[in-house]
Amino acid sequence: MKQRNIWIDCDPGIDDAVALAMAAASRDQLNILGISTVAGNQISDRVTGNALKLASFLGMEDVPVVRGARGPLVRPVEPAGDVHGSTGLGDCQLPAATKQTASESGIFYMYTRIMELPAGEQVTLVPTGPLTNIALLLGTFPEVRQRIEQIVLMGGSSSGGNVTPAAEFNIWADPEAAHMVFGAGVPIVMCGLDVTLKSGLDGAQIEKLCQSDRKVEQACGQMLSFYLNTTRHEGEENMVAIHDAVTILFLTDPDLFSGKNAAVQVDCSWGENRGRTICAECPDAGVVGTGDAAEDLSLSASVYLLDQVNLPEFQRVLLSKLASLG
Ligand code: BDR
Ligand code: CA
Repeated sequence: MKQRNIWIDCDPGIDDAVALAMAAASRDQLNILGISTVAGNQISDRVTGNALKLASFLGMEDVPVVRGARGPLVRPVEPAGDVHGSTGLGDCQLPAATKQTASESGIFYMYTRIMELPAGEQVTLVPTGPLTNIALLLGTFPEVRQRIEQIVLMGGSSSGGNVTPAAEFNIWADPEAAHMVFGAGVPIVMCGLDVTLKSGLDGAQIEKLCQSDRKVEQACGQMLSFYLNTTRHEGEENMVAIHDAVTILFLTDPDLFSGKNAAVQVDCSWGENRGRTICAECPDAGVVGTGDAAEDLSLSASVYLLDQVNLPEFQRVLLSKLASLG
């Protein structure tokens, strides 16, 4: 099977951790060139430490982990300790990492690895945190765009947010970076709240993971129990959305999801709409950016916005991938 080259940019983060587990379980399909970290759910030192521990724990010792931006382009870091805990991984204690960062200048490292790909090969970028590193990569090294097949990102929403009524966390954390990425002309698959809030596990499934004698299932169960408690809202189902895992499962099992073409603009104001993604459907757009709605928004990006998931199948695939990691 032909593997797809991917680069994961993350801020682990409980659901980032599950996304990394999904990637680790899919190496027959995914050639993971590297993992970079970005300040988001926690400060850079913590998310970088977590990424190193997770890479070791999940059997990805061979995958380079590099440190990216220590904060958003122009705004201060505002970690989500209330959601992911003070370490970023709830109350789960992972074994110490067996490796160190391959580079502390992660964006340059990422650029170099991508440009070293054999002629004709491209990479899919998979950001599951604020888009700071991706904006810096595209802005600093514009020639890299030709080597990027697409960006499959977790972020945004067409209908309200989770950190404010208007905005989803990853976009809110660095709207200027998101604005640059959505405007870069690279095809984007947006795994935003429209689909990720429908993509998760329920309390009973999480409890079963906690009871498992397999270490990866147990650790994910422990993290997800914490996440279920911090993200549960009154009146909502007893399900925790595993936002970031949608990106990897879209790549390995695209039939689980469906969506629509859209043009997306990011609100970079300092007001209550900061970080809102304004999404205009472009039904006829083969390439978004040519339709009327896109012109109204002065956009050039081509976005495929996921909004539906086959939940039972999503859960089956996710759980079987976790089980495969032992
Ligand atoms: C996103 O925000 C973060 O807290 C999660 O890791 C995920 O990437 C969901 O809005
Ligand atoms: Ca994340």
